[in-house]
Amino acid sequence: MTTISHHADYLCEAVARLGSESAFEVLARAKALEAQGRRVVHMEVGEPDFDTPEHIKAAGIRAIQENFTHYTPSAGIPELRDAIAEYASRFRGLTPAYTRHNVVVGAGAKPIIWNLLSAILDPGDDLVYADPAYPAYASAAAYLGARPVPVHLLEARDWRLDLDELAAKVGPKTKALVINSPHNPTGGVLTRDDLETIAELAHRHNFLVIADEIYSRNIYGPNFVSITQVEGMRDRTIVIDGFSKAYAMTGWRLGYCLAPEKIAETVVLFNNNTFSCVATFVQKAGVAALTGDDAPVQRMNAIFRERRDAIVAGLNRLPGVSCTLPEGAFYAFPNVSKIAKDDRHLAQWLLQEAGVACLGGRSFGPAGEGYLRFSYAASIDDITWALGQLAEALPRYRDP
Ligand SMILES: Cc1ncc(COP(=O)(O)O)c(C=O)c1O
Repeated sequence: MTTISHHADYLCEAVARLGSESAFEVLARAKALEAQGRRVVHMEVGEPDFDTPEHIKAAGIRAIQENFTHYTPSAGIPELRDAIAEYASRFRGLTPAYTRHNVVVGAGAKPIIWNLLSAILDPGDDLVYADPAYPAYASAAAYLGARPVPVHLLEARDWRLDLDELAAKVGPKTKALVINSPHNPTGGVLTRDDLETIAELAHRHNFLVIADEIYSRNIYGPNFVSITQVEGMRDRTIVIDGFSKAYAMTGWRLGYCLAPEKIAETVVLFNNNTFSCVATFVQKAGVAALTGDDAPVQRMNAIFRERRDAIVAGLNRLPGVSCTLPEGAFYAFPNVSKIAKDDRHLAQWLLQEAGVACLGGRSFGPAGEGYLRFSYAASIDDITWALGQLAEALPRYRDP
């Protein structure tokens, strides 16, 4: 037998800096419980429980039958890039419109985030982002040797950024700021005033803004405002968007970014070096999503809104729990700090004891401590059952 003289596991040092999305781990645990015959309500994973709308599925099936099953350019098929440029500009009211040269299609928004950060971050650069946050930004930045710099979102500001802290933390090393509105995990939505302050800082310190607008169609009150609508910001903004959340297409893996041309070309180079291109028939289905009937998106949103109202009201009735009203996305982010010191332990306990799968706020960064995230992509029946389970179980919870 050969003896291994160096690191036993062969892994590179940088992997120690990678984060991960705990939703997938909790999902696996929840599925294992279900396999034992237990009832579990899935509020851990951020995906619509609706089926993909029929006309989109039909377009995907037709595309396979018509043999759209070969490689495509790494940026995406021109037809889809044009449809995205048209839709994205119209939805945000932007003139002149984006062109296909601004559009890069990827296998979900997540690999586009990875490839974009690979294209712009040098070791030692600062990537400023909100805390709590979707874990992909800080994970990629840390892996690349850049410094992830968290700025708090404030519960007291309905989970909008602490703009004073932001102003204090940006500077010459800041390469980019990531904003995500509507926000995962809190459901917070930035206002036009917030975005204008951010824009001023971006101009003053010459940094890029990465606007993760993947929940831009999931909004329940205020009008969606994009930082690209703020004077002078389009040239320093990269918009991240996709099909997963708006069209219930999580498993199709289809997302994109809108970027200034030079940056777009470099993201394409990373696509070329990683997944080459997205499945052709999936891209054809994406064209159908953007150019076909929009009514299913609106129907899903009306249902999300009812569920939001039900879960937030129910959570606020639980002793020791308080929850702000999320204005977008499909997450409730209640404060449970009076009940538990360790939110992730509480989340695990709730799955075991009550069959309610949710995530500890700490999974989204230090500022998530003391909160839980419930994805309300579950039926009203399931939400009602889960709230009953929580009411019964929570009074029995003890910190370890
Ligand atoms: C804020 C945010 N950005 C991006 C994504 C990635 O979505 P996808 O890769 O499915 O397009 C998610 C998914 O949970 C998200 O919450």
